[in-house]
Order: sequence, then structure tokens, then C-alpha cells
Amino acid sequence: MIKTKVIGRVFRQDEIADQIYDMWIETELAQGARPGQFVCVYTKNAAALLPRPISICEVNEEKTMLRLVYRTVGTGTNEFATYHAGAEISLLGPLGNGFPVEKAAGKRVFLIGGGIGIPPMLQLSKEIKKAGQAYCELSVLGYRNELFLNTDLEKYSQVYVATEDGSAGTKGTVLDAIKEKGLSGDVIFACGPMPMLRAIKEYAAANNMEAYISLEEHMACGVGACLGCVCKTKNVDAHSHVHNSRICTDGPVYNAEEVEI
Ligand SMILES: Cc1cc2nc3c(=O)[nH]c(=O)nc-3n(C[C@H](O)[C@H](O)[C@H](O)COP(=O)(O)OP(=O)(O)OC[C@H]3O[C@@H](n4cnc5c(N)ncnc54)[C@H](O)[C@@H]3O)c2cc1C
Ligand code: FES
Repeated sequence: MIKTKVIGRVFRQDEIADQIYDMWIETELAQGARPGQFVCVYTKNAAALLPRPISICEVNEEKTMLRLVYRTVGTGTNEFATYHAGAEISLLGPLGNGFPVEKAAGKRVFLIGGGIGIPPMLQLSKEIKKAGQAYCELSVLGYRNELFLNTDLEKYSQVYVATEDGSAGTKGTVLDAIKEKGLSGDVIFACGPMPMLRAIKEYAAANNMEAYISLEEHMACGVGACLGCVCKTKNVDAHSHVHNSRICTDGPVYNAEEVEI
């Protein structure tokens, strides 16, 4: 289905950690949003043509608002951080496939988020809990140092934390926390930086676990037209007929076994 740009309205925005912003937007896009999907957010700066992809962190109960949590890193995100309640914001979405929540049915689930890969874990955790599918839901969250969204996730799952500097939880990575706490599970849903996803792919294969990973790669068009976001896969892409997959439309979530990362 062709997506068209819509105008949303900022409901509120707060800085919840250093350079981490939490924005609630009133928009009709909240209606059909699934965990792991993202929206493309347009800047008002004519020099920055391409919209910026940001994951859906949460949807309110009435499905009238989307929550985006993002780190300011450049032109687009620094502009978004200046928006106050009432500001108009142009969005495209919801885009991408999202996490296969049904794979959690009756399984011990690990939700693993690293840094700015933590936001999509919140709506996912909420939906898994609501469906009552998992009999054990653990979230393992990796940070540089300052924590965010950990208390939101505690409402739906048992949360373990790892920090690079050891200021909270386990010192090290999410996998260090899993080892230190002796955690085990059947299926992993993960989002975070590529080195973390590579380590999770290896860990899942070594421990005979299913893993679904969300690849937050650089993107241009966001709708499958430019091939600016391809990754190598086991399967042949229906559009290009090669072992490539467009992360923006076929992903961003993949079965870890099916992608080369
Ligand atoms: C599917 C998807 C979901 C995402 N979800 C989130 C989210 O929930 N929260 C969040 O904070 N960010 C998220 N990102 C990353 C976000 O899109 C980028 O940080 C953003 O586009 C940067 O735009 P900018 O104009 O501020 O920075 P730019 O001025 O474009 O770039 C500034 C710096 O950031 C780097 N950069 C830009 N995009 C990325 C990227 N995708 N990955 C790594 N480095 C990048 C650039 O190389 C450059 O060094 C997501 C990306 C994708 C593809
Ligand atoms: S960003 Fe253009 S094809 Fe994916």
C-alpha cells in the first residue's frame, strides 16, 4: 500500500536523559502501528531533504498518539528536539514489518535493547504482556551510562541492566548481563547497534534459540525505492532477484539466521 505523508501534532516533549528526547505525537498513524515498525519524520530544513526514520516506542491505549524516543545526533534530530507542544510534524508510516509477536506464544522471551535500540522494546513488551503469550518475559537493556525507559519496561517485564562504565547493573554488554545473572530463554527479540546484533546472532545460534533482530541501518527513501538500505539475505528478493533485502520494506526485523550482518 502506498503511504502518504501526514501532519501530526506534538502533544508533549521532554528530555529524559542527556540528548535523549521523548516525544508524544497526536497522529492517525497510531491506529495501525505495530511494535518494531517505524515512522519517517520530515525536517522543516529545506537543505535536509530526506526524512529521518525513528522507531515507534509506544502507542497510547486510545491509539491516537505515538511516542518516539530518540538521541540527537545531527541536523534532523537536533531540529526535532526544538519542537514544543502544538508544533506540526510531518510523518510517513507506519513503515516496515515489525516484530513477529506471535512467535512469543508460550515461550520464555528475552527482549534485548541496546542504546537507542531500546525504544521499540517498550511497545513490544506491552503487547506480549497483553497477549499473555509468554510465560516469562525478561528485558535486558544495554546503556553507555545514563538509564532511560528502564522504569517504563519494568511495568511489563523483569528488567536487567548493563552499562559500559558499570554505573548501574552489570558492567559490560547485554550478553555479559545474561551470563552474570544466569538468564535463559527460548526466543530473542533485539534491537541495537550492529556489534550487539552480531553477538546476539552468534549467542542465539550457539544456544539453539530463535532470534529476531531489528536492523536500524542508514536509510534514504524509506519506502523501498532507492535500494539505499539493502542487506544480504539467504533468500532472494522479489524486487531485485538477488540475495538482497530492503531493510525499510522487508525489515527492519529479520530472523537472525536469514541475514548476513
Ligand atoms: C528503522 C530505523 C529506526 C530507527 N529508530 C531510531 C529511534 O527509535 N531512535 C533514535 O534515536 N534513532 C533511531 N534511528 C536512527 C535515526 O534514524 C538516525 O539517528 C537519524 O536519522 C539521524 O538523523 P540526523 O539528521 O539527526 O543526523 P545526520 O545529520 O543525518 O547524521 C548525524 C550522524 O549520525 C549518523 N547516523 C545517521 N543515521 C544513522 C543510523 N541509522 N544509524 C547509525 N548512525 C546514523 C550519521 O552517519 C552521522 O554521523 C533509526 C534508524 C532506522 C533505520
Ligand atoms: S531506504 Fe530506499 S529502499 Fe530502503
